[in-house]
Amino acid sequence: MKRDKPPRLEGVTTIFDSVGGLEWFTSLVERFYEGVATDPILRPMYPEDLASSVPNTAGFLAQYFGGGSQYYSDERGHPRLRVRHAPFPIDQAARDAWLGHMLNAVRSGGLSPENEEVMVEYFERSSQFLVNIEPEDNRRRIIVKAAEPSEGS
Ligand code: HEM
Repeated sequence: MKRDKPPRLEGVTTIFDSVGGLEWFTSLVERFYEGVATDPILRPMYPEDLASSVPNTAGFLAQYFGGGSQYYSDERGHPRLRVRHAPFPIDQAARDAWLGHMLNAVRSGGLSPENEEVMVEYFERSSQFLVNIEPEDNRRRIIVKAAEPSEGS
């Protein structure tokens, strides 16, 4: 069922509005992926065709910064970012690499200083939240699915 656009508050300008809508978030993510494309830690985690990953992340960010649920959740449901990132081994180095590329993309986005500060803080915080390997654990996590004991064994 297609939901109506959620009501917008009178007189409230969101970051989504002030940066120019979905288009801005799409080019942000495209710039970010230019960095990912050559990153030895991050590149192997992403699909071969990076362009296929742009709409989900751009849409999520457009929604998060006030655009409305039609940009992500109407299609993809609740973001559950920790769960969606669980298959990827995100240690501190991976997070720092991810954040570095994203901050380069944010800082070349022509934002007002206020909007830039909000985004920088948001990406610092949210990327740290997605670390799923203990800092002192130098191993890349290997997910081994335990074999079901076969009958009679
Ligand atoms: C901390 C380092 C991070 C790494 C290594 C990472 C890695 C990834 C990878 C490999 C994918 C799958 C891409 C695909 O299959 O198309 C993905 C998807 C995604 N990431 Fe991240 N990510 C990180 C942080 C973040 C942060 C901070 C956010 C949001 C603020 C974010 C938002 C998303 C979204 C929205 C998706 C798509 C989810 C969906 O399937 O709907 N990621 N990420």
